Amino acid sequence: MILGLNIGKNASTPIERATDDYLACLAGVYPYADYVTVNISSPNTQNLRDLQGDAALDALLSALKSRQGELAQEHGRRVPLFLKIAPDLDEPQVQAIADALRRHGMDGVIATNTTLSREAVQGLPHAGEAGGLSGAPVREASNRVIRQLRAALGAGFPIIGVGGVMSGRDAVAKIEAGADAVQIYTGLIYRGPNLVPEAAHALRRLRAG
Ligand SMILES: Cc1cc2nc3c(=O)[nH]c(=O)nc-3n(C[C@H](O)[C@H](O)[C@H](O)COP(=O)(O)O)c2cc1C
Repeated sequence: MILGLNIGKNASTPIERATDDYLACLAGVYPYADYVTVNISSPNTQNLRDLQGDAALDALLSALKSRQGELAQEHGRRVPLFLKIAPDLDEPQVQAIADALRRHGMDGVIATNTTLSREAVQGLPHAGEAGGLSGAPVREASNRVIRQLRAALGAGFPIIGVGGVMSGRDAVAKIEAGADAVQIYTGLIYRGPNLVPEAAHALRRLRAG
């Protein structure tokens, strides 16, 4: 099994000190992780998504990459770093993030986190609740960001697709959008563990052509 561990900043840490939290978390999870996800896209931690902006992202990725190098020496093992981004980004923002991923030599990107958009749930009784939406309402936005990332990054840069995979067909759509691998979260709640073999079979059929 591959174990990815996800790091973020504490809600109580001011955004100017976010890097301290990420560095502490990276060192803490490093010995146990096969890869580490740097989450800068949860809409439930105030201001967190500001870290997706150019200057803040540059500073954070520089600090993390340099610590990754030190930890690799210390532990004799290089653990890849993935950046996890939001679906609520426009194309120039996705392009700027793709440029930063390349510039800093990040190992991959995970698209996407939950969405703040209520477009897909308009008129539903709980549409006005606060927080990020997962599952079917984020699927199309996530696929759009994956397509834009693939176009910006070209072939060969690892992209993990996540957001609204509720069926084998949805897993296939992630790969067709440009992802190399697929993650499932909300689908497990609605569909249960059977969703995993369903997705695996659908992807195998896709590969067999
Ligand atoms: C209750 C809940 C908690 C989550 N916590 C995190 C988190 O701590 N870190 C993170 O990167 N993403 C978190 N996510 C986002 C999911 O990992 C995933 O990116 C998102 O829900 C879209 O995928 P899905 O539609 O399959 O759920 C959370 C999502 C939900 C619904």
